[in-house]
Amino acid sequence: MRTPFIVGNWKMNLTLSEVEDFLSTVKGRLPDPHDVECAIAASSIYMDALTKFCKEEKNLKTAAQNCFYKDSGAYTGEVSPMALADMGVKYVMLGHSERRKYFDESNKMINKKVKAVIKNNMTPIICCDETMAKRKTVDEMNWVVNPVIEALKGISPEDAKHVVIGYEPSWAIGTGRTASAAEIQEACFLIRETLIDLYGQDIANEIRIVYGGSVNSRNVAEIMKQEDVDGVLPGKSSLKAEEFIKIVNYQN
Ligand code: G3P
Repeated sequence: MRTPFIVGNWKMNLTLSEVEDFLSTVKGRLPDPHDVECAIAASSIYMDALTKFCKEEKNLKTAAQNCFYKDSGAYTGEVSPMALADMGVKYVMLGHSERRKYFDESNKMINKKVKAVIKNNMTPIICCDETMAKRKTVDEMNWVVNPVIEALKGISPEDAKHVVIGYEPSWAIGTGRTASAAEIQEACFLIRETLIDLYGQDIANEIRIVYGGSVNSRNVAEIMKQEDVDGVLPGKSSLKAEEFIKIVNYQN
């Protein structure tokens, strides 16, 4: 049974005082980790504040929004996966559509980063994108699953079962236009089928697939009912503590 997983993606938002206000508001109001696993993906500058809080608040884990594929060296401005792991960071988002769009990240680069994150005993949240243009093509299999296949090249079954796949259609990100439950299930089913092809049914059944794209407290329950959806990745809705609390407590 896959534990539901909800990751708030703050992107490049919030000041330190707003982060501190958020954390004090959610303290003690998150669901039991056996019911819903919760995480926040914050900018690297907030990792210290977040990891210290999460050592106390048992049901909030830390995620980074990106990292480099080497642990150390002359790479000014980059973030080391080894340093993130050393701070207690548990997850690292990789290949978000905004990374691909603004920083030209390739599937090959993301695959290198997946290996670096796993080597440092963290869990990659591998984001796969789909532009509306791609969705309208007839070649449905590629519009979402190719980034998954490329990102998982050289990843063993034992390591693969711990990864998380994030389906995030860029036409739904930040637009308020959430994909329909049927559209989300269709894409997540294709991803699940691809994982079965790559690793077999048993491993594929352990991999969590989460959806991101204008998730909020009003649509989360319907999205979570979908058979191949194991969680959500709220962006804008995760910036407000009360909204994030409603989203993670969707089972109530
Ligand atoms: O990583 C999830 C994020 O891209 C979704 O953003 O604002 O559409 O919820 P938003």
